[in-house]
Amino acid sequence: MQSRRDILKLSAVSAFTAAAMGKTPSWEVVQPEAPKTGESPKPLPRVARFERMAFGMFVHWGLYSQLGKGEWAKKQYSIGYEEYSKLLPTFTASEFSGRELAKVAKSAGMKYVTLTSRHHDGFSLYDTRGLSTYDVTHTPAGRDLILDFVTGCREEGVVPMLYCTTLDWTDKRFNEDWDGYLKYLRDSIEILCTHYGEIGGFWFDGNWSKPNADWKEGELYSVIRRLQPEAMIINNTGIDAHGVRGNPEIDSTTFERGRPQPVDRRGWPKHVAGEMCHTLNFHWGIGNKDFNYLSPAHVIEEFCRCRRAGANLLLNVGPMASGRVPDYERALLARVGDWVREVGGPALYEGRPEIFGAEDDFGLVTTRPDGGRDVSLYCFGLTPTADTRVHQSARGFGKRSFNGVPAELAGATWADNGEAVTFSRDGDTLVIDVPKYREGANSVVRAAHGTLKK
Ligand code: GLC
Repeated sequence: MQSRRDILKLSAVSAFTAAAMGKTPSWEVVQPEAPKTGESPKPLPRVARFERMAFGMFVHWGLYSQLGKGEWAKKQYSIGYEEYSKLLPTFTASEFSGRELAKVAKSAGMKYVTLTSRHHDGFSLYDTRGLSTYDVTHTPAGRDLILDFVTGCREEGVVPMLYCTTLDWTDKRFNEDWDGYLKYLRDSIEILCTHYGEIGGFWFDGNWSKPNADWKEGELYSVIRRLQPEAMIINNTGIDAHGVRGNPEIDSTTFERGRPQPVDRRGWPKHVAGEMCHTLNFHWGIGNKDFNYLSPAHVIEEFCRCRRAGANLLLNVGPMASGRVPDYERALLARVGDWVREVGGPALYEGRPEIFGAEDDFGLVTTRPDGGRDVSLYCFGLTPTADTRVHQSARGFGKRSFNGVPAELAGATWADNGEAVTFSRDGDTLVIDVPKYREGANSVVRAAHGTLKK
C-alpha cells in the first residue's frame, strides 16, 4: 500500500506530464446564442437528445459496496483512511459487467446509464494513470472498470454517462491545496474524456459541500467542451436546491429525490433540461439492511410525473460488492419495463409534454414535436386505495378533463387493453372516461394513444 506522501508525489508527476504534453486546456467557454425576448430557446441537439432519452439508470458502486451501508459509510461510520483502504485488496469486481448493467437498464426501458466513476471516498473505478493511487489499478479487479462499462453500454446501444464527485474525503488537497485539487479534478476529467470514446454526459456532484468556494467551474467544463463537445454537463445542486441553472454551460438541472414541475423557459438564454434522480430504496450505494423499496407502480407514476414536467428520471441501483445488480432490483426494473413497452409507449420519450391545468394528479398529454397529429393521454392517480375487494368503487376512474388540447380528438385507444376511449368535448376541454376496474385491468398509469383531427 502506498503512503499519502507517495500519492501526492505521483499526482504532481502526472500533472507535470500533462503540462509537458501541451494538454493545458484553453478555458474557453462557448455561450449559446440568446433567443429573442419573450421566446423559449430551442434546445441544443445534445440537450434535445438527452430529453428524448427520458429514462436513465443511476449506478452507485465502489469500495463502499463491500460494507453494504451506503456510499457515505466512510463518513458516517468515521472510518479512517488506513481502515477504509483495507477494502482495496478485497475489491475484485468479479461480477461487474458494463454489458450486464446496460441489459438491466434496457429491460426497464432506460436509454442511458450514469455510473459513479469516482465517489466522495475518492476511489476511482478507472485507471487514473498515476494521478492517484486510490483507483482500480490498486485492487485485484485487474481491469479498467470504466472501460468495461462504456464498451458494454455501447454494445447494448445504451448511452454511457459518468458521475464524477467534486467532494473528496481522501485527497488531502481538497482541504489543503485548493488549486492543486481543482487541477487534479480537471486532469481526472481529461482522462475520462480522452480514453473512453464518446461519453454521453458528465454528472458532477459535491459543489454543495463548499458553497462559498470558487470551484472554477468554467475551467472544468471547458475541458469537456474541448474534448467531448457533445457531452451533457450536469452538476447536482443537491437536495435543498432543485432546478437551479447555475453556470451557463450546465445542460440539465437536477432534482435530487424531488418532484420537477413544469418550467416556463421564456427569456432563458439557453434551453436547460431537467433530471430527477431517485433511489429504488433509501440508499444510493447498496444498503444490505434496507427493505424500504419503491414499488413498480411508484416508479411508473414518478416517471410519468417527471415527463409531465419535461424532465428525465434517473433511477438508481446499488450493485452488490461483486458488481452484480441484486435480483429484486432486476425484477422490479423489468416489471417497470413491461409497463413502459405495453402502455407508456414511445410518446413518453418523443412526445412533447403539454401541461394543462394545475392539478398534480391529473395527467399528461404529449404531442409530437414535429407537429404530427399523434396524441397520448396519460391518466395518473388511478391506484385503488380502498379495500381491495371493492375496486369497483375505489377512486381513480371516472371522467378526466384535459384542458387546451390543440385540436379535436379524432379517436384514441387504451394501450393496455386495446379498447376505444369514450370522450366528449366541453368547450376547450377534452373529457375522457376512465372505465371502472375489472379483473385484468391495469390500475397504475393508463395511457390512451390516438390522433387529433386536422
Ligand atoms: C447526494 C449524495 C451522494 C449521491 C447523490 C446522488 O449528493 O451525497 O452520495 O451520490 O446525492 O444524487
